[in-house]
Amino acid sequence: MENSSKNLFEKFSHSSLIVKGQRQALEPGFVPDRLPHREKEAEQLAEILSPSLKNFKPSNVIIFGKPGVGKTSVVKFVESEITKIIQSRLDAKIKLIDINCGVVDNPYGILLAVGDGLLESWEEKLPFTGWPLDKLYSTVLDKIKNFGGIAIVVLDEIDKLVKKNGDSVLYQLLRINEITNEGRVCILGISNDLRFTEYLDPRVKSRLVEETMVYNPYNASQIYDILRDRSLYAGIGDSIDESAMRTCAALAAQEHGDARRAIDMLRIAVELTEKGNQNRIIDDTVYEAKKKLERDVVVETVSSLPLHSKLVLFAISLIDEIKNGGSSTMGEFYELYEKVSDRMGVGSLTQRRVADIIGEMTNLGLIDSKVQSFGRYGRTTTVSLNYSSTKIKEILLADEILGQLKDVKPAQKSLPVS
Ligand SMILES: Nc1ncnc2c1ncn2[C@@H]1O[C@H](COP(=O)(O)OP(=O)(O)OP(=O)(O)O)[C@@H](O)[C@H]1O
Ligand SMILES: [Mg+2]
Repeated sequence: MENSSKNLFEKFSHSSLIVKGQRQALEPGFVPDRLPHREKEAEQLAEILSPSLKNFKPSNVIIFGKPGVGKTSVVKFVESEITKIIQSRLDAKIKLIDINCGVVDNPYGILLAVGDGLLESWEEKLPFTGWPLDKLYSTVLDKIKNFGGIAIVVLDEIDKLVKKNGDSVLYQLLRINEITNEGRVCILGISNDLRFTEYLDPRVKSRLVEETMVYNPYNASQIYDILRDRSLYAGIGDSIDESAMRTCAALAAQEHGDARRAIDMLRIAVELTEKGNQNRIIDDTVYEAKKKLERDVVVETVSSLPLHSKLVLFAISLIDEIKNGGSSTMGEFYELYEKVSDRMGVGSLTQRRVADIIGEMTNLGLIDSKVQSFGRYGRTTTVSLNYSSTKIKEILLADEILGQLKDVKPAQKSLPVS
């Protein structure tokens, strides 16, 4: 055979666009050491936290902002600056304790992380499970007194903790400052749900929300600067067309000004360019990257929804199909959801719980929802899909369990499931 000498892997060994610099600079975990357009926010946060350098408790602070607007990055950056001070000044008695409430979302886990964060290097870690909460709490209290300084507890994605397990553990942490003044706790919460403080008990809210910062979405020219800077880290500054970079920024700005999306888009554009054995990133590749990213994000989001959210979404998609893209009211999709649940042999959730699910799916960007008031006739929630019903149904029906609903077709008028 003529090409028998070709190695099987040859066609997969694409030319690499990133020759020097770092490929990791485009990966999600990369932490840049400069944050264009967030300098003011970093400075403001440093100012809020600066009393800790003199062993005074800073105000508790909550940072709000949509996904990808640099909340975690700013906090990490400010933390790294504080760490430099802790390392260089013996009189600075500060501990930074980082907790991601997307991962640790229960009172035991939170208290454990705070307790462990206060341990001296020679002390043994607290037990991973098994202690009663009050024993764990009094141990944390002892640790904070022994430490005698300021513990800055960063609760990233604090809204997830509160939604899942309420705010009792926040109350306990905040109460420490009223029980002792030998050591103090400052809470820095980060949330991408602007309404999260509505879920708080007034006693928690008044103590927790002493300062708030809201980070606005980036506009296209800010995202452009962020991308330009990031492409320098990655060493691809010269391999990307100016207009491709502008397109990438403009597309991400349209979608909630999310810098993460912009960087993801750039990374995928680099990969597509390499796969195509091209040596420049051009406009078309950015559009292609956007499409690929959208497919990936929606598939991932929809497939990881809990069962009942999937069923509610399925009902909404069926109605969307009948109405050719129209919106549906709670009455309409709830009725269909009940039927679909019945068909699956699972009990349906109450309208109240379904309303919560609608809120969650709205936050995820899968649907849009509005509460419409009919004066004294009450209110209803209206929803519409943000993606085509064909696409959503395709993803849902690929699910092992929901696959059973393949043959379900809604009848035109009264919407019963046939
Ligand atoms: N001003 C900036 N300069 C450089 N990179 C940035 C900037 N803002 C955000 N990024 C990058 O965008 C990505 C998302 O930022 P970050 O994780 O801080 O967002 P977030 O607001 O915490 O989002 P989420 O609510 O989803 O957690 C990260 O990769 C980060 O490095
Ligand atoms: Mg974050």
